[in-house]
Amino acid sequence: MSSTDDKITSLLSEGRVFEPPVEGREAAAIGSLEEYKAIYKRSIEDPEGYWAERAEELVTWDKKWDTVLEADFDKPEFSWFKGGKMNVSYNCLDRHLENGRRNKAAIIWQGEPEEDVKVYTYQMLHTEVCRFANVLKKKGVKKGDRVSIYLPMIPELSIALLACARIGAMHSVVFAGFSSVALQSRIQDCEAKVLVTADAVIRAGKTIPLKPNADEALSECDTVKNCIVVKRGGNEVSMTEGRDTWWHDEVTADDIASTCEPESMDAEDILFILYTSGSTGKPKGVVHTTGGYLTYAMHTCQYVFDLKDNDVYWCTADIGWVTGHSYILYGPLGLGATSVMFEGVPTYPGPDRFWKIVEKFQVNIFYTAPTVIRALMRDGDGPTQRYDLSSLRILGSVGEPINPEAWMWYHVNIGKEKLPIVDTWWQTETGGIMISPLPYATPTKPGSASLPLPGIDVAIYTEEGGEASPNEGGHLVVRKPWPGMLRGVFGDPARYKKAYFSRYKDTYDPEDGARKDDDGYFWIMGRLDDVVNVSGHRLGTAEIESALVSHPQIAEAAVVGMPHPIKGQAVYAFVTPNTGVEQSPELLAELRTHVRKEIGPIATPDAIQYAPGLPKTRSGKIMRRVLRKIAANDFKDFGDTSTLADPSVVDDLINGKKALD
Ligand code: PRX
Repeated sequence: MSSTDDKITSLLSEGRVFEPPVEGREAAAIGSLEEYKAIYKRSIEDPEGYWAERAEELVTWDKKWDTVLEADFDKPEFSWFKGGKMNVSYNCLDRHLENGRRNKAAIIWQGEPEEDVKVYTYQMLHTEVCRFANVLKKKGVKKGDRVSIYLPMIPELSIALLACARIGAMHSVVFAGFSSVALQSRIQDCEAKVLVTADAVIRAGKTIPLKPNADEALSECDTVKNCIVVKRGGNEVSMTEGRDTWWHDEVTADDIASTCEPESMDAEDILFILYTSGSTGKPKGVVHTTGGYLTYAMHTCQYVFDLKDNDVYWCTADIGWVTGHSYILYGPLGLGATSVMFEGVPTYPGPDRFWKIVEKFQVNIFYTAPTVIRALMRDGDGPTQRYDLSSLRILGSVGEPINPEAWMWYHVNIGKEKLPIVDTWWQTETGGIMISPLPYATPTKPGSASLPLPGIDVAIYTEEGGEASPNEGGHLVVRKPWPGMLRGVFGDPARYKKAYFSRYKDTYDPEDGARKDDDGYFWIMGRLDDVVNVSGHRLGTAEIESALVSHPQIAEAAVVGMPHPIKGQAVYAFVTPNTGVEQSPELLAELRTHVRKEIGPIATPDAIQYAPGLPKTRSGKIMRRVLRKIAANDFKDFGDTSTLADPSVVDDLINGKKALD
């Protein structure tokens, strides 16, 4: 907990409160704190009635459900809207063709080069999705099959997801920044039939080949019979005869029709699998289903972003992560909104790129991550002054705790001291936002995600399981099921139960520490498990350790998070080489490259220290809190180290750290 202690202290001294704007309240989905409280009370007293109403209001069903909820925390097993039938792509596309939105922009795509802009109306997107759905069918993809998608932020990414949803295939998106090794293990785990990838990623002015990673991954993926490649970079790629084909050839083939009947899916059929990091080495394939997930993505999008028909909405996440799934695609398109999709990075060609895009498309709602704000803060307010940001009405934050300094910078420079900031707490597993201010109802406190959304029953539990007192830190728990909750870990029911439903009875355990203040506001402190949050990206320390020890010269490794001014947390590794191996700077550089190759650039350790020994208890468990303190240059108060097998290793590590700095 030591790394989160500092955050808590700085958050504890935070006392500012900002009232929601008055203008806009009347037209808002929820326009006052009283209204929120009334809706919340009702949702908790009669959850089934509440969620049935929401599901009816938001989603078009082919057939209504038989039961709203069947829940068993012990098994664990949860069914929402059982017996109900619907199709997610129908809900995101077809119905908008008939309700007046046919020619409305569904997706505004801004490529990294300024002049690369594509606008897809709902009609155009419908056609593209149908065509690609027909391509998948032609390749033999059927309802229930898995399709892995490894693409940069180009329109084909959105099209591929919706095409899978249309025919009932499960998509499994793998972030294009992941390595071939990471891609391979994810394809193998879900036994995908098809891989959709691209020739390259365009990033910060460079064309970075992607297809070679796909080729390497596919060298040991027997289940993949077809690999469909989007041309983005125009670079030379090798195509494997009989397996690889070009997207543009496939979708324009004469036998591909522009319509495709959506598959009527059971509410509990799987929509997608998305891999995320947990405490142990292997990433978990988080499973989300159809009816509940869409209801929840739309419900939260409507309330938290107050999304209206005229709005231009921009979530800056990558669709490789859950934020992009729920808040670039399914939530906004379900609501018939206009969603901006951006291929590039915030700092290229300059630190004003985001604001330029806001002005260009007159963005109204802007949702980003604290790490982006901290990175942009370095350049001061100059870049924010260069553009007209007056179209903005709501600002959002997600992925990690937002420190009050970053919150205030966002508030002053982007919000011009009047826009509401919604600091949204949630996870891959929750499917959508769980705790967040409502822009026109909730007074905000910098650094607090504030209050639970309607339908969400959260509390802070002590180690023993009782409810913690106000301001006392503890485990955040969710006490009632909600429609967006994960329904499993793909192929691993035991892990599903152990990871999420075993700490306390009848609760979902997010593995986050938090406290609740006297006003009932939640302050999230960070992960309680061995997961680090680097630039809002979740990485398992065990995954990085296993990558390090897979290097032939490394015997042991321990990885911890250390505080970082921009990334929030950075990766710090302690490594013990095999006997006789020289502890050279070259080996450290080699280890960095090795981790990039095994997992991807985001997991590259910021610092690696040689450790003659690791602080282990007599039972062999590494005492990570000691390592976290050393990584953070905090050499005092290590707590009880009497159970260490060899306490002298601590001094060795401190000396090693001092020598590094
Ligand atoms: O620790 C919490 C942190 O990110 C974790 C979830 O990561 P992931 O599944 O990758 O999803 C990220 C996008 C939803 C959580 O367990 N986290 C996310 N949002 C916040 C946050 N911590 C504090 N405040 C937030 N707003």
